[in-house]
Amino acid sequence: MSAISFRKFTWSDVPAITTIYGHYVKETVITFETEAPSEAAMAERFGRMLDLGHPVLIAEDEGKVVGYAYASFYRPRAAYRFTCEDSIYLAPDAVGRGIGGVLLVRLLEECKLAGFRQMLAVITAERANSIRLHERHGFRMIGKYEALGFKFDRWLDIVHMQRAV
Ligand SMILES: CC(C)(COP(=O)(O)OP(=O)(O)OC[C@H]1O[C@@H](n2cnc3c(N)ncnc32)[C@H](O)[C@@H]1OP(=O)(O)O)[C@@H](O)C(=O)NCCC(=O)NCCS
Repeated sequence: MSAISFRKFTWSDVPAITTIYGHYVKETVITFETEAPSEAAMAERFGRMLDLGHPVLIAEDEGKVVGYAYASFYRPRAAYRFTCEDSIYLAPDAVGRGIGGVLLVRLLEECKLAGFRQMLAVITAERANSIRLHERHGFRMIGKYEALGFKFDRWLDIVHMQRAV
């Protein structure tokens, strides 16, 4: 982990994060999107988060983007404005090295500064490593929802986990 550095998102990160996210869209049930977004679409999404002042962080290994994390509104309606949902995506070859945990800790710090009070993690129920990661960082299991997603010809459950920021 010594070579990994962490910093805020910049526009030049868009191609790398589009590639990382596209992998999980096309190959996994981690995200319920089924069409990988273009770089332009990703730039628009991240631009919206920057406009809102929401944290977007990058993990780099010797200059190469190996992961990203962000938190944004859990839901758009105004009364939810103190509640965020996190997302963390590492390049496949960066998984299992503890980078996700560092991104999550830093994201929580940034979320506090941004004024969020609660963070939700919405996780595909079969993803044990993501559930474990959030447990390790103080998230409680709130509930399981059955068959909310359908991808790759099967129904998918999700769990919600929560902690105060
Ligand atoms: C989920 C993710 C962010 C976790 O980050 P990471 O740096 O790879 O985290 P690690 O795998 O090193 O650690 C997570 C924990 O899960 C544990 N773990 C790993 N595989 C596991 C498994 N199959 N079952 C149970 N626990 C597992 C690890 O031992 C570790 O627990 P520990 O800290 O108690 O040792 C990262 O793997 C990732 O980006 N995955 C793909 C995208 C994704 O799933 N994003 C989350 C969307 S909410």
